[in-house]
Amino acid sequence: MKYLKEKVELANGTFMPKLGFGTWQIPNGDSAYNAVKEALEVGYIHIDTAYAYGNEESVGRAIKDSKINREKLFVTSKLASHVKDYDGALMQFRETLANLGLEYLDLYLIHAPWPWNEIGKDCREGNALVWKAMIELYNEGKIKAIGVSNFNKEDIQYIVSKTNFMPHVNQIQYHVGHNQDDTLKYCFDNDILVQAYSPLGTGRILNNEIIVEMAAKYKVTPAQLCIKYCLESKTIPLPKTVNKNRMIENSQVDFELSKADFKNLKNI
Ligand code: A2P
Repeated sequence: MKYLKEKVELANGTFMPKLGFGTWQIPNGDSAYNAVKEALEVGYIHIDTAYAYGNEESVGRAIKDSKINREKLFVTSKLASHVKDYDGALMQFRETLANLGLEYLDLYLIHAPWPWNEIGKDCREGNALVWKAMIELYNEGKIKAIGVSNFNKEDIQYIVSKTNFMPHVNQIQYHVGHNQDDTLKYCFDNDILVQAYSPLGTGRILNNEIIVEMAAKYKVTPAQLCIKYCLESKTIPLPKTVNKNRMIENSQVDFELSKADFKNLKNI
């Protein structure tokens, strides 16, 4: 379970635990509260949420009730994808902190380059405005690191051209069968850490024949193999589950994956 505590250093000197706990699609209330409470009990210290998930309040309550020192935790949230103006970003950040009951965030991300109900819309100017707001919050010490999510190379280049400030992190969908090589290369070349959301392909890739066979060879589960694939890709996986046994399972990935098998997975 070493990946729960081992950390990677971001470009600005902040440290992030190598394996996080995703909370997308866990409803606010008992579900999110219990899931995060159990994840913290298992030993996860890196928790990922978002304003748009609607569960910040329960996530925050579970964090508070865990009594774990705030400095020991790494908490991420995201600015909702439809907010593309400066004042709106500052306002929603305050709301997120209040929902979570926290004084600061470890990481705050622009959730997407466009509103989720208008995928592909040109929001470059809006992204630059909210990026400026986030840089200001970062400079004030209210956020330890800032970044983006679902951004490609051009989306990132635009906000950097307007601010001269490189995101510390890009959180993208990354899993076996969905590699996003161009984005990954651009991020690595520019010292942007990549977080992998849906590392299990939201559960859909776990029955893949090649994955099932290879997992058996390593005496691990398909989920463990898929999480290891993300780690070997130098991304930070954020698997989601509401099941405590699976939380434990997903953290037990201390096995060696051969270069050849990594390549085989990459080719799926
Ligand atoms: P559940 O929450 O019922 O455990 P992703 O992280 O890629 O978004 O995938 C999340 C999905 O995968 C959820 O449906 C979750 O279901 C399921 N899941 C998470 N961990 C495991 C596991 N170890 N084995 C099987 N399914 C899992």
